[in-house]
Amino acid sequence: MGSIPAQEQAGAESQAWWKSATFYQVYPASFKDSNDDGWGDLPGLLSKVDYLHRLGVDCIWVSPIFESPQKDMGYDVSDYQKIYAPYGSIEDVDAIVTACHDRAMRVILDLVVNHTSAEHAWFEESRSSKDSPKRDWYIWKPPRYDSNGVRHPPTNWRGYFAGSTWTWDEHTQEYYLHLYAPEQPDLNWENKECREAIYEETMRFWLRRGVDGFRIDTVNKYSKRTEYVDAAVTDASSSYQAAPEMWCNGPRIHEFIREINQVLAPYSAVSVGELSNTPDPQGVLPYVSAKAKELDMIFEFSVIRLGNGDLFTGKYIYKPFSLSRLKALTEKWQYFIEGTDGWTTVFCENHDNGRAVSRFGDMSTPELWRSSAKAIALWQTTLTGTLFLYQGQEIGMTNMPASWDITHYKDVEAVNFYAEALESGDEERIQKTKHGLSVLARDHARVPFRWNDDKNVGFTDDETKSWMRIPEEQGISVESQSGDPQSVLEFYRHMLALRQRYQGLFVFGTHQLLDRDNESTWAYVKEGIVVARDGRELRGKALVVMNFTSQTAPLIDVAKALGCMSQKVRLMVTTGTETSRLDDGTLSAWEGRVYCDFDLEACDLHCC
Ligand code: GLC
Ligand code: CA
Repeated sequence: MGSIPAQEQAGAESQAWWKSATFYQVYPASFKDSNDDGWGDLPGLLSKVDYLHRLGVDCIWVSPIFESPQKDMGYDVSDYQKIYAPYGSIEDVDAIVTACHDRAMRVILDLVVNHTSAEHAWFEESRSSKDSPKRDWYIWKPPRYDSNGVRHPPTNWRGYFAGSTWTWDEHTQEYYLHLYAPEQPDLNWENKECREAIYEETMRFWLRRGVDGFRIDTVNKYSKRTEYVDAAVTDASSSYQAAPEMWCNGPRIHEFIREINQVLAPYSAVSVGELSNTPDPQGVLPYVSAKAKELDMIFEFSVIRLGNGDLFTGKYIYKPFSLSRLKALTEKWQYFIEGTDGWTTVFCENHDNGRAVSRFGDMSTPELWRSSAKAIALWQTTLTGTLFLYQGQEIGMTNMPASWDITHYKDVEAVNFYAEALESGDEERIQKTKHGLSVLARDHARVPFRWNDDKNVGFTDDETKSWMRIPEEQGISVESQSGDPQSVLEFYRHMLALRQRYQGLFVFGTHQLLDRDNESTWAYVKEGIVVARDGRELRGKALVVMNFTSQTAPLIDVAKALGCMSQKVRLMVTTGTETSRLDDGTLSAWEGRVYCDFDLEACDLHCC
């Protein structure tokens, strides 16, 4: 049985709300269009708050809705205090916050402050002259010249969206830095006045309006190394080199994040930071250790990046991976909190990646699609940490059809990587990039949400106006799945309720991976506190076991895995249909189950 781990000792009730909350990311352009212009909007989101409430969502994360030229779908903000008109108005945000608070839900906004849009007034002022009072709010450097007098950027760094991280400004004869598109110049966090403006005009502005916190974009890129020197050449075929060591986790990053924390603390606002290029627990802990007072949570991307090639050059050259790798990475971030005062997050989708069922599941038949989407749901909802869902995950939305050609990809990253492959003239690279994009591109997560099975999927009235093409698919919609007990949607709803009811086990429990090299089935034991109906706290265990293949697979010895007598074992959940056999020692294709070692009758939620 063992002792009760520190994170449980205080009991789940005394834990911060955001630990057991289910967060749900809304990508507003693609969620719900209320005025039929083909672009999702805030009144559309407001009309669906009840849907999210019924699903079991506790907090909505809304991707950027601010004034923006939309070069990177709003991750290029030109005014932090205005709403991009096609999304609606600031009063619409207030209405969403109120609607959520009325339902005991919360709302967080996406805070994009590594860079602004080039159309932000700060940048316009900064680029107006070398003497501008805001010149130092961005990162300007003089050019370098080679022996032939040819001008070159200050360093050889490659940006996220291909090409150099520097753009030449004719007017003032200097380069400015941008880790992303040229239209997204990086702010200079070394400048105190600039930092104060960020705190006051972006964070406090929205906190005063009642939002509950922020998802903080690119959180570990605010402090760059200030030498601005070339990175080592790792790709001899390119003029530009990956250089994360130059601009990620820089020397002052923890100081800056502690300042952010001081801005958020008076509002008790929650923070979850996007932490790239930091795959090691020792690198992550300083950001989320409770005593460090920096961030509440971070997103670490090892799981969601599986299948991606090298991030900076070959990102879209697909790299196959094994189930044991997926298990090992999952386990790593489950163990992360054991013996530390940090916290972990659970997610397998967001707006920057292909759909989970198309990457980790099986799309070969509608039945396998459904079973594998439910297996993914079981995996995610039984893990320790704060759970983040992405819109459409709960109905098993899939990637865009592989037959769609590149003209249907709208994202700046996909477009640039494809253009770069074309420029290389290397036919193999072109084909591999196309294939990689068909699995991994950010566009897959950005097609309209499927409310029903009409041509316009209930997203908008006129599908020809939709900003992204709508795939023709049947059965993947809220309407077709609602009320069907075998559906992906109802399974998510059920699992989210179960996760809340047994949060001592699923949210706060320990995680023990079994049979780690098994490439077909995945099994782990969760152990933690179970509160019985009479309020008694028991120590319980749950075995989660999932068949990650399309063949029948043997079921492990459940009693042995739970360390109890077989009479004590109870089936808590199955993803299978009523026809699946529960007693022949096998799991059907993509079936997942949860067994437990405690008496379910003692608890008030009947499970299956
Ligand atoms: C983050 C966002 C991504 C965006 C980038 C630049 O990674 O998630 O969508 O392109 O930051 O802001
Ligand atoms: Ca609209």
